[in-house]
Amino acid sequence: MKLSLFNLSLAKPVTDLFEQVFSDSEGAEEGKVIGDLVTNIISSTPEQDLIGFVASTNEQVVGCIFFSRMLLASDDVAFILSPVAIATDQQGQGLGQQLINHGIEQLKKLEVDIVITYGDPNFYGKVGFTQISEQQIEAPFKLGHPEGWLAQSLSGRTIPSIEGASQCIAALNKPEYW
Ligand SMILES: CC(C)(COP(=O)(O)OP(=O)(O)OC[C@H]1O[C@@H](n2cnc3c(N)ncnc32)[C@H](O)[C@@H]1OP(=O)(O)O)[C@@H](O)C(=O)NCCC(=O)NCCS
Repeated sequence: MKLSLFNLSLAKPVTDLFEQVFSDSEGAEEGKVIGDLVTNIISSTPEQDLIGFVASTNEQVVGCIFFSRMLLASDDVAFILSPVAIATDQQGQGLGQQLINHGIEQLKKLEVDIVITYGDPNFYGKVGFTQISEQQIEAPFKLGHPEGWLAQSLSGRTIPSIEGASQCIAALNKPEYW
């Protein structure tokens, strides 16, 4: 498997991958929702606020992950991991964890302080995330599943309690995603 930086020439295979993987796991309707979300993330996010990585084998895209900037009410540089997908027939072999760990290593080199995500604590716990509260870091909207609010420090410092609102990119700024 080859890991590389996402670029716009990969927009179509990457969007197709997300739509297919989420159709397989959660039904065609959710597949369409996530495909549209990824199209929106790619087309509307300023370059400096988005970083993606692609996993491929034999020139075929088999995985993708996006991190986008979150503005916190502190000086910490923060990105949120969302979404990530591994091709359905390649799941359960460690590729997802490899892709996430690769992305996190690259963010560390870019001096990102905190990576946040919102998902399954059991899965993301395998790649260094721990649960945080909405008091510690406010989410852009009140969370439907606060147990899935997760973060990890890349700076070596403990994640502080940050008082004040946070802001995500426009594509994620919809209450239904939270
Ligand atoms: C979630 C996802 C990215 C994980 O990637 P993956 O390559 O399947 O995961 P890995 O093989 O690296 O790790 C699997 C671990 O998570 C669990 N797991 C998650 N999905 C699994 C699957 N389909 N099959 C087996 N194990 C799975 C296992 O417990 C395993 O733990 P272990 O390594 O200690 O046994 C991938 O399954 C996927 O794309 N799922 C559908 C889309 C999705 O839910 N994305 C996340 C929300 S944005």
